[in-house]
Amino acid sequence: MRIPIIAGNWKMNTTVSEAVKLVGDMRPLLDPVNNVEKVVCPPFISLTAVKEALKGGSIKLGAQNMYFEEKGAFTGEVSPLMLAGLCEYVILGHSERRQYFGETNEIINKKVLAALKANLKPILCVGESLAQYDAGQTEAVVTDHVTGSLKDIPASASLIIAYEPVWAIGTGKAATSEQANKIIGIVRKVVAKMYGDSFAQSLRILYGGSVTADNIAELMKQPEIDGGLVGGASLKGDAFTSIVKQTAQVNK
Ligand code: 13P
Repeated sequence: MRIPIIAGNWKMNTTVSEAVKLVGDMRPLLDPVNNVEKVVCPPFISLTAVKEALKGGSIKLGAQNMYFEEKGAFTGEVSPLMLAGLCEYVILGHSERRQYFGETNEIINKKVLAALKANLKPILCVGESLAQYDAGQTEAVVTDHVTGSLKDIPASASLIIAYEPVWAIGTGKAATSEQANKIIGIVRKVVAKMYGDSFAQSLRILYGGSVTADNIAELMKQPEIDGGLVGGASLKGDAFTSIVKQTAQVNK
């Protein structure tokens, strides 16, 4: 049994006070919901205040990125040691990082290894662009992302993968649940080949890309899909709450 996860990636949105208000609004609705792990990933500068605002509840905290070095002359970067103790999860290799900030599999792999060393749980993002999708390269791209980014991790590593097709992010055009299920199944097979069946079967793999309160139930019915990485809809308390509650109700 893989416990489902709904994680909200707030991206570069919310000031510190807006972030605190958003989790304050969510808490009474989400704290009592069981059977699903709930995670919010606000911007770095809000992590401390949001951690405080979540105290004593059941919503967990994640960061959106991290550098792989522990400390030193890396102006503007945030290290694994700074995040450890502050949050439990860290999103790594998001397509926006790959696309706008030049992150390669090699860099992402260093980040994954550094996060694990600091006892942070990576949420590794993989997924093809529209051009790659149109060219029929989806399977090759996700295979490359998974093998490159997860090189040399311990087979006991605590991590999560999110399959996020770039063409579905922020477009309102989510993958169909069958499509998402199929690609997540392929991701699981790639992991099984690298680290064995039992690791792959226990690994939670999420779908991300235009997840809403209207499509989450359908997505969650699929056997391979273990939750969602939610962008836009995670910034709206009512939508995020509905997504979490619907996920908690799916039996499979
Ligand atoms: P949207 O839900 O806004 O499409 O964003 C998905 C995403 O990139 C989450 O990491």
